[in-house]
Amino acid sequence: MSHVFADAAEVQRRLDEMDYLVDEGTASALFFALTLGQPLLLEGEPGVGKTTAAKALARALVTPLIRLQCYEGLTASEALYEWNYQRQLLAIRLAESRRDNLTDADLFSEAFLQERPILRAIRHSGPVPPVLLIDEIDRADDEFEALLFEFLGEASITIPELGTFTAKRRPIVILTSNRSRDLHDALRRRCLYHWIDFPAAERAAEILRRSVPAANETLIRSATEFVGRVRRLDLDKAPGMAETIDWVSALSALGATDLVREDVVRTLSTIAKTPDDRDAITGALDQVGHARGATT
Ligand SMILES: Nc1ncnc2c1ncn2[C@@H]1O[C@H](COP(=O)(O)OP(=O)(O)O)[C@@H](O)[C@H]1O
Ligand SMILES: [Mg+2]
Repeated sequence: MSHVFADAAEVQRRLDEMDYLVDEGTASALFFALTLGQPLLLEGEPGVGKTTAAKALARALVTPLIRLQCYEGLTASEALYEWNYQRQLLAIRLAESRRDNLTDADLFSEAFLQERPILRAIRHSGPVPPVLLIDEIDRADDEFEALLFEFLGEASITIPELGTFTAKRRPIVILTSNRSRDLHDALRRRCLYHWIDFPAAERAAEILRRSVPAANETLIRSATEFVGRVRRLDLDKAPGMAETIDWVSALSALGATDLVREDVVRTLSTIAKTPDDRDAITGALDQVGHARGATT
């Protein structure tokens, strides 16, 4: 299908231009998803850049991002398509007043069909297929997954009143999961799969340089190292990249050029999300040589 990238290295390069930094594994997974025209399921802890992967890919391809945010209770009428009942009712009233005859075929026709993200992605016409992001699929009820099987397998959906719609060119489909529950085997079978790890120190530092350009290099290095250390603790909510970016932004806004105990304590709300984690992270701070305290 879309041979828009020559190889995984080009994926890496083009995403880098969008300030999204991937390792080889993620670049290969994206490359094969594009080349084989198959949906890609990205799993990983919150904040490792799953959502941003889809956004950056759409920007790199200069194509629309169509986003379906999943949540408990998400239904077909929000994800696939919906009949516009109000317009149907109006049409019925109008027809009555004119003594016209309205058939079911009139009422369940294109004019009353409302596209939701999946139908929109199927019918999108453009030089490049859109990127469809089905975000946090693990938040939807597990019955919802079954609604996706036809689409994931055949890039089509069937509307009983109208027939089957098949994409002329398969949309680029990225599903993400924070792994808050296990997904159906039937869903996994229809997708390529990639687990995104928390970035290694070098890449984490580079992500920080791009995201917080004002931050000092020493601060970035110390913060990266400290987050690495903190992530090895047994925390309720280990800080992800999003938290790390917030933290370094906060420290940088305070004018910090390295980790100083006082500043770290003032900015802990960005990386410690429970009282226990706050204690654990403060404890780790006291063991770090370079976190010079005002009291020492
Ligand atoms: N590889 C990366 N390159 C650049 N920024 C990243 C990367 N990974 C994560 N980030 C940044 O971290 C934050 C969280 O990423 P996000 O995509 O929301 O994570 P997830 O969807 O996995 O929870 C975003 O601000 C994103 O820009
Ligand atoms: Mg996300």
